[in-house]
Amino acid sequence: MPRKTTISLIKCDVGSLAGHHVTPKPLINIAEKNLKKAKEEGLINSYYVFNVGDDLELLMAHERGESNPDVHKLAWNTFKEAADKALKLKLYGAGQDLLKTAFSGNIRGMGPGVAEMEIEERGSDPLVVLAADKTSAGSFNFPLFRIFADPMNTAGLVIDPNMAGGFKFEVIDTIENKKVTLKCPEEMYELIALIGTVQRYMISRVWRARDDLICAVGSVTRLSQIAGKYVGKDDPVMIIRAQHGLPAVGEILVPFMHSYLVEGWMRGSHWGPIMPIGLKDAKCTVFDGPPRIVALGFQIADSKIAGDGDDGKPLMADLFNDPAFALARREALDYASMLRRMGEFEPARLGPEEMEYTTLKQILESLKERFKPA
Ligand code: F6R
Ligand code: MG
Ligand code: MG
Repeated sequence: MPRKTTISLIKCDVGSLAGHHVTPKPLINIAEKNLKKAKEEGLINSYYVFNVGDDLELLMAHERGESNPDVHKLAWNTFKEAADKALKLKLYGAGQDLLKTAFSGNIRGMGPGVAEMEIEERGSDPLVVLAADKTSAGSFNFPLFRIFADPMNTAGLVIDPNMAGGFKFEVIDTIENKKVTLKCPEEMYELIALIGTVQRYMISRVWRARDDLICAVGSVTRLSQIAGKYVGKDDPVMIIRAQHGLPAVGEILVPFMHSYLVEGWMRGSHWGPIMPIGLKDAKCTVFDGPPRIVALGFQIADSKIAGDGDDGKPLMADLFNDPAFALARREALDYASMLRRMGEFEPARLGPEEMEYTTLKQILESLKERFKPA
């Protein structure tokens, strides 16, 4: 029997330094401390803590399956403790994404974002973790389509017999809370018809069609639907498996050679260009952006993240920290300056339906009496 391993990536905005800019070190230290203890106690086997902008990200490898109450509780308690510290330090937006008070066994639906997959190990499994700030899960639709369905992106779709038969995509309708599975290449046009509407339809899972091998899992949440009002964008995370009959690491990264537009940016209400960056630049500045994304590479084996020795740190490859993405960064700045020249005029600003903040209702209300038949 192949060994089963669960990878859990759970993230939360617990508060940040100087507005919504960055999760500072004292909060990261809390996560490091708690995950270290959980590893010593045997709850998890290994972990990697990082941040992308104001989002604190906990990557954990264990053998307890998806939606394990103890693993979720560890994440919840860690976010709570970090949020308390943020409050004490007078950081901004302390506990921003913690939308519920009492933990009830599963962190889903409580504010934090979750991407989890249980895999049957293949000896040595390369993983790419994508994590973005100031955008939503719909921003992954375009690259995921290219990685798993576009033969002009992924050579393996054409020349690796192990990929023959294509991939299946689970798409969530975030408005009606329904899901549908579509198979490529046969249903490619139907898939694009849905996921081209990035604000509503979001890819949550991808499987290899011929054997249902799980390949990718993302966090799809709409905080505003949990809270009933705008409380921040659902800055998304994604776990993608690579190589040996799956897209190669380089095929996963190549869609990011160019920037493209995503929803989010300032006040979650604008189109902005995605900027692939290394961890050292994972912090938003201009107009609270441009929206940033990191790609981190790991190896999974023996239900652990491969590391140097027993208490050695996991080995991590900071994949976008590379001159190969300088062109995309340059394009992101060009697009950003073009869009910002347009100020609050569409299409720089999102349409009224999708704006996370809007005064339109109040403005219309205050002008009600002054509107005359035209
Ligand atoms: C977007 C984001 C920021 C804030 C903006 C206003 O996801 O987090 O752009 O929306 O800085 O924040 P508040 O309302 O907290 O002043
Ligand atoms: Mg924030
Ligand atoms: Mg954020």
